[in-house]
Amino acid sequence: MQYKLETRPPAQVDSGLLVLGIFQDQSITDAIKAYQADFPPAFLEKITQAIQEETFKGSPDQILILPTYGELPSRKLVFAGLGKSADYSIQQARKLAANTARRFSVNAKTEKICLFLPSKTGERDFVQAIVEGAILGSYTFNKYRSGKDDKKQSSLTEIAIAGTKLSAGDFEKACERGEAIAESVNFARQLIAEPANHLTPSRLAEEARTKGQELGLVVEILEQPQIEKLGMGSFLGVAKGAKELPRLIVMRYKHDEAKKTIGLVGKGITFDSGGLSLKPANSMEHMKYDMSGAACVIASALALARLKPKVNVLVVVGATENMPGGQALHPGDVVTAMNGKTIEVNNTDAEGRLVLADALCYAMQEGADEIVDVATLTGACVTALGRVAAGIMGNSQELIDKLIARGAEAGEKFWQLPMYDEYKDSLKSDIADLKNAGSRGEAGTSSAAMFLKEFVDSRPWAHMDVAGPSWLDKDKDECNKGGTAFSVRTLCYHVLNSQ
Ligand code: BES
Ligand code: ZN
Ligand code: ZN
Repeated sequence: MQYKLETRPPAQVDSGLLVLGIFQDQSITDAIKAYQADFPPAFLEKITQAIQEETFKGSPDQILILPTYGELPSRKLVFAGLGKSADYSIQQARKLAANTARRFSVNAKTEKICLFLPSKTGERDFVQAIVEGAILGSYTFNKYRSGKDDKKQSSLTEIAIAGTKLSAGDFEKACERGEAIAESVNFARQLIAEPANHLTPSRLAEEARTKGQELGLVVEILEQPQIEKLGMGSFLGVAKGAKELPRLIVMRYKHDEAKKTIGLVGKGITFDSGGLSLKPANSMEHMKYDMSGAACVIASALALARLKPKVNVLVVVGATENMPGGQALHPGDVVTAMNGKTIEVNNTDAEGRLVLADALCYAMQEGADEIVDVATLTGACVTALGRVAAGIMGNSQELIDKLIARGAEAGEKFWQLPMYDEYKDSLKSDIADLKNAGSRGEAGTSSAAMFLKEFVDSRPWAHMDVAGPSWLDKDKDECNKGGTAFSVRTLCYHVLNSQ
């Protein structure tokens, strides 16, 4: 994809699609003037008529598509509603770029799009967000469609951005960031889209290795005997029920001038059947997406390897299936985690926390100064926040606040849930240090976080429960239906902001 800083006025731009963003509380004539759109008078008359006939008001998501009939060098003119000017932020710009790319380049076959949008705040962030939106909106996954006609593919080759006062160098930097982040999000989406019979733990590890090494990351894949040596009884307990062997995926990005190491830990359950505490069929249907956290931390490392921030990044992923095989954990079994704590597994479907327990210990051992874990951990979080926002918890309010703020910039919502000491009571076991599942229907997301807390020390740690927003049933702005790779943008913004 080419990115172009457009400095010509709209009437001179020769694009497939010329998009003008219009505020609800702005007259179209004023908007056209503001964009210095010196349209030929006869054409101006035609569009004014169309605007009236179609009652285009500039409300959010409203669009009006007009053919230009050779009166402009561009083939089509689109007025895109931006809502009220007071509400305008780079989020609207990202969404508009995504919806435009999906509608005109995936569903129709437009190659070049030129966007005229008001850029009120942070010019670099604004360009970056548009590039992100255009790439995210272009995402498709055709691998398993055999019919040629069924394959949707974006035809976008160029995105031109007008209305920015950035220098060519700054523009290029902003595009580079947007591109590295959004392409990584799309890579994570592909991994999530892969069905569990194709994307096994070992295949996930190979993907991380190939892509990571291409970008100069140090990638280490630990197999069962090494995992055993590390004393990861909790992780291995989950893996026992599956025929596919587990992998511990470790990726390292290092910078000479780095002052700290940020640990990113991901839940990599390539399929969650529930184990012997088997899930009902309709809850199991999409459980290939239970490795979303893993896909997101791996993809973030890839984006960061391209952007080279002055901070070290350590990625740790525990990858396994959760299956009810003959060797599977029985409810009531006791396992011992890497830090020596014993866990009574009263519910084998609460497997994510068992895997994360050891992965968190490992990230601590390997010198992470701060840890963020990402996991599709609890159905309770989907109930609480729907598909709109992820839950966030942890032991450092400062880190949580930072992540919520970066999420708001990146267009990903995080909502903090409490970690009251009382929630720990539900994890008391009669025979072990703790059990893995609290009382059904009672603060499931918070009690899961209380469980994880047992495996981190006093270093800043935040836990993202992304069970809800990681999967959508229909396209929504910059998120596609299916696996969304929610958190990659926030993690990247956070690391880039920590250098
Ligand atoms: N992977 C699931 C959580 C999940 C549920 C993710 C729905 C996405 C959508 C997790 O492993 C799980 O099964 N959690 C249990 C925990 C319970 C047994 C304490 C749950 O949420 O029911
Ligand atoms: Zn489960
Ligand atoms: Zn799970």
